[in-house]
Amino acid sequence: MLQKIETIKQQVLSELSEIKSLSDAENFRIKFLARKGIVAELFDEMKNVSSEQRPLVGKALNELRQLAQTSFDNKKLELEGGSKSVEQKIDLSLPGRKKWIGTKHPLTQTLEEIKRIFLGMGFSIATGPEIEDDYHNFEALNFPTDHPARDMQDTFFIDEKILLRTHTSPVQIRIMENQQPPVRVIMPGRVYRNEAISARSYCLFHQVEGLYVDEGVTFSELKGTLVAFAKQFYGSDIKFKFRPSYFPFTEPSAEMDITCILCKGKGCRVCKHSGWLEILGCGMVNPNVYKFVGYDSEKYTGYAFGMGIERIAMLRYGIDDIRILYENDVRFLRQF
Ligand code: DAH
Repeated sequence: MLQKIETIKQQVLSELSEIKSLSDAENFRIKFLARKGIVAELFDEMKNVSSEQRPLVGKALNELRQLAQTSFDNKKLELEGGSKSVEQKIDLSLPGRKKWIGTKHPLTQTLEEIKRIFLGMGFSIATGPEIEDDYHNFEALNFPTDHPARDMQDTFFIDEKILLRTHTSPVQIRIMENQQPPVRVIMPGRVYRNEAISARSYCLFHQVEGLYVDEGVTFSELKGTLVAFAKQFYGSDIKFKFRPSYFPFTEPSAEMDITCILCKGKGCRVCKHSGWLEILGCGMVNPNVYKFVGYDSEKYTGYAFGMGIERIAMLRYGIDDIRILYENDVRFLRQF
């Protein structure tokens, strides 16, 4: 009986491939699947099968009926044009799907460019913790307790002595604690300030700090290095100026301005019609700071500088709201 079922199966398959029209299909159905068809006849013969054999034969028969039925159904649908074969379903005229390639965040791109320039001038890169203590963030940078200069930076305190760093300057202290001169490093990282959030300020942002300490380092080297940086980063045609300023950890201190890169110095909303943009703070490391880190201030001099990355990136890419840098909206990010 199993042999017979196998023979019929082969017959089903070979006749299936012969079907060319709907009437062929109908003949196929009548032959194999009708009430008096071959498959039904086989089922009739089940009564002659021994009870041991019955489960096996039953299974084979059911599979045969299934095969004949689905083959017939598919063939019929195909001939009626209702369902097309897989190949026909592929619409070659559809436009292709583009793969999205991720891009670097504009802040990362800006930071990488800054790093590249300073690495080229012999600086190395160091980082420090974002959760700092009062000592490194203020005290050792010559902000004495209760000194009004602490109010320059609105601080997120974790407890009385622990805080989120308000600038990257504490990394200077950590470097000098661990390394004797010469040191020539830049220190990029996140900083936090407890400020009202607006288009111009956010509770966190990024800075790049710089430090160079050795024997005989002068203010003119500070100027030369920063001018070389600014020309590489903003273009060799920019003008610049250094204005006196105040930071507790540098003496003398200065801020560096360059010609507004948006209006080329003519005066616009961004530069508040002055034609100038402030890009960084800098100065000669205050000898008081050397006392905290155990450097000999008679032997060594050095300079430091610090710049904000967001501001630079915003100017570069014409972004007018700092908050968008932190929203991770792909519609924004995909433009870079
Ligand atoms: N830490 C300063 C700030 O956050 C920036 C700064 C100014 C860093 C002068 C320096 C520097 O290293 O010399 O406003």
